Amino acid sequence: MTFAESKWVWMDGNVIPWRDATTHVSAHALHYGSGVFEGMRCYETTDGPAVFRLDAHLDRLYASAEIYGIIIGYTREELTEAVCEVIRRNGFSSCYVRPICYLGSDSLGVHPGNCPVEVVILAWPWSSYLGAEGLERGVCVTVSPWRKFESRMMPTTAKACGQYLNSMLAVRDAVSRGFAEALLLDANDHLAEGSGENLFLVRDGYLLTNDERHSILLGITRDAVLRIARDLDYRVEIRALHLEDLLSADEAFFTGTAAEVTPIREVDGTEIGGGVPGPVTNEIQRVFFAATSGRDLRYNKWLYPVDSQPGEIRPRLLQSIS
Ligand SMILES: Cc1ncc(COP(=O)(O)O)c(C=O)c1O
Repeated sequence: MTFAESKWVWMDGNVIPWRDATTHVSAHALHYGSGVFEGMRCYETTDGPAVFRLDAHLDRLYASAEIYGIIIGYTREELTEAVCEVIRRNGFSSCYVRPICYLGSDSLGVHPGNCPVEVVILAWPWSSYLGAEGLERGVCVTVSPWRKFESRMMPTTAKACGQYLNSMLAVRDAVSRGFAEALLLDANDHLAEGSGENLFLVRDGYLLTNDERHSILLGITRDAVLRIARDLDYRVEIRALHLEDLLSADEAFFTGTAAEVTPIREVDGTEIGGGVPGPVTNEIQRVFFAATSGRDLRYNKWLYPVDSQPGEIRPRLLQSIS
């Protein structure tokens, strides 16, 4: 990841230099993790840079904020334009985009009182989260000793800053033991997800994944992959996943904005399938990247061109909506 290439940040309505985008040490969010955020990717397409599933990410951002009582003082249209503006100003053709809305400085009671909500959008180039080799050949993962918290403890479907301490513990433990990523079980011993990815299995011709009943963040990449799988005529089953399902699966892969579609080749030393990415994973990954690059016109409505004018409806978009 290269922050160094990012020169501009959108902060509370203005585009400012990266070095000036600071917040006070008394910010509530710094002490209690009281913020919500998104991670999106902007891809290079034949029509110029485009943000993948911008609408869905903004839906989730507003939903996460509502759960935590964080009032975002900008409309969807304003945030849409702000995301595009920060990408344009930085001159990126592809990048990762991180909008974050957090409680600033006023009180350090746990009850945030009148803490202001600050809204910031960062963008920087970020190649595949689990590495180019992981994307191609698959990653080795471990079942974490840390459990994923359940929704009666914290809203698992919200993407909130403090919730990521659970993920950080899990991934640090995994990496310290030589694995690329951690896989967390939920409180009922079912598979939940990776520290920053959802999980899919392929078994006997079925594509299997779990849902919010198993303490996962409902990923936007997961949703895209479910749609792609159905379009490819795969049978999909959404149900509880057991560790044995994974260990005996024909194939397994992670999905996430950062990790995209990354095959899993080993779990705690046990090979999945033959220890190489399987045909279903490869096909889904191929169609996913055809969608993100704009090459597969069926999925063009998932791409929001960075150069569109606010409110503009482009002919190609109309085409793909109809
Ligand atoms: C805990 C967790 N699960 C799943 C995902 C995948 O979600 P998405 O595909 O929306 O990026 C992420 C990444 O945002 C995550 O942090």
